Amino acid sequence: MHTLFLNVNEPGAVETAGGILRCGGLVAIPTETVYGLAANALDGAAAASIFAAKGRPADNPLIVHICEFSQIYGLVSQVPEAAVRLAEAYWPGPLTMILPKADCIPDAVSAGLSTVGIRFPSHPAAQAVIRVAGCPLAAPSANLSGKPSPTTAQHVMEDMDGRIDAVLDGGPCEVGVESTVITLATPVPRLLRPGGITLEQLEAVLGKVDVDPAVLDRLAEGAKAASPGMKYKHYAPRADVTLLNGTCAQFVAYVNAHAGEGVAALCYDEEKDSLQIPAIPCGSEKDMAAQAHSLFDALRRVDDELHARVVYAHCPTVEGVGLAVYNRLLRAAAFRRIDLTPGVVGLTGPTGGGKSTVCKHLRMLGCGIVDSDAIAREAVQDKDVLAALCRDFGEDILQPDGTLDRRKLANRAFASPEATKRLNAATHPWIVRRIGQLLEQMKMEAYPALCLDASQLFEAHAETLCDEVWVVTAPQEERLARICARDSISAEEGRRRMGAQLDDAFFAEHADRLIVNTDAKAACQKAEAFLEDFLACQRKTD
Ligand code: TXA
Ligand code: MG
Repeated sequence: MHTLFLNVNEPGAVETAGGILRCGGLVAIPTETVYGLAANALDGAAAASIFAAKGRPADNPLIVHICEFSQIYGLVSQVPEAAVRLAEAYWPGPLTMILPKADCIPDAVSAGLSTVGIRFPSHPAAQAVIRVAGCPLAAPSANLSGKPSPTTAQHVMEDMDGRIDAVLDGGPCEVGVESTVITLATPVPRLLRPGGITLEQLEAVLGKVDVDPAVLDRLAEGAKAASPGMKYKHYAPRADVTLLNGTCAQFVAYVNAHAGEGVAALCYDEEKDSLQIPAIPCGSEKDMAAQAHSLFDALRRVDDELHARVVYAHCPTVEGVGLAVYNRLLRAAAFRRIDLTPGVVGLTGPTGGGKSTVCKHLRMLGCGIVDSDAIAREAVQDKDVLAALCRDFGEDILQPDGTLDRRKLANRAFASPEATKRLNAATHPWIVRRIGQLLEQMKMEAYPALCLDASQLFEAHAETLCDEVWVVTAPQEERLARICARDSISAEEGRRRMGAQLDDAFFAEHADRLIVNTDAKAACQKAEAFLEDFLACQRKTD
């Protein structure tokens, strides 16, 4: 079959397209979302030929396009008030409503369901073709089934040349992702496919809208799809796509670390210049409309221009139109998604156990370190903390210039377990708050993991900020020898300090991983192996 290439601006093009459709033919037409492959929606045979041209599974129903609101009354058996209000707000536009179908809808269009999707597109050429054809048009996206939807007439030709009667070129589609699909055939309206009309916009008109689980996740094995289209592999280029969730710094670092032959990226505009591999920018980070607009073109280009084998795509912000971009990208990625937010290891253990050696090694391996001792020193400069300490330990722990006399405080605070408890009560909340703030900041940066170095991890209840707790320890006699040598203290004083800490059994019981540090090199190797395993657990794709 020869495929006629028409341009909307040529005189007679719309009439030619309308004529072909009236005679039961197939024409790809521009809409504000993506190009649609149109046929007369009331002609079962014409609608059936759409499935053949696209290679579309027969159980995936088609959307019926109209050019005037009143047409809806002939196509559905009920028009609820919610449909009228949605139409007033967002039609013509990128919104499809699922409603109970009228008898005139052929089975080929509804794929045997009792409902039908209706859409009133805003694109002037789409409206003109529907009007000239004189019938509602059934139109799925004009791509081969499984490929990214076409947003230009050239995309349509790549997939459909020789398979359909004509393509009407109306330039690139503005929105770039398919219409929002909402069903009003359920007791509570339900979003089946996010698109150009956002969930927030729907809720502004309807109040509560349910989100179908298939919008954000893979359909569970054996579960019935509310929208049959959601169960099929979709939008996929030939390359293997993986979504990376994280900040720009994290995305750039991860992608550059995974550079190689055939590796490419779909990135934000801001990231392009920092990437060391071929990349297609898909709009600015905060501009989800721009990302939607360029998404499908970019997915085609990774195959055709970059010949990529592996593609890393920056996971969009899941808000507004970003929800639609995320929904399509997740399917393009066959649900492969890696979270680049670094996980947190709490590193603790008894004094003299050799924690510092392990911490230094983790720093050397690129981990971000939060040093709780340094934060504890900051804490006693805070005026509220100082005031609390003065109440507990006497005003004279302050020097004449108002700063803390550390030695005096230490003498009083470590004189008894009860005094130590009061010291902790005055300082730990401040310290933990500060640790939390620092971790939040560092989670935005490109560290493989974060390490909270905290001898008092459990006493301060800071283990709640950690994904895992690693305990570094050594046999008691070895720890004693180390602290006596390190702090020039007697064995008796050493034993007293060790006795004031949590005991070995507690540490062993509360450790996710235990490093017995009797040899620095072996301990570092162990930490390295643990880190590798920790990262593998954290980055497990789902
Ligand atoms: O923006 C769009 O909607 C584009 C343009 C051409 O209008 N069309 C489009 O059609 O994307 P298509 O066939 O590629 O996607 C229609 C989606 C499918 O996921 C299908 O399963 C769902 O809508 N759908 C259609 N009728 C339905 C029904 N009665 N119940 C549930 N889902 C339905
Ligand atoms: Mg489609």
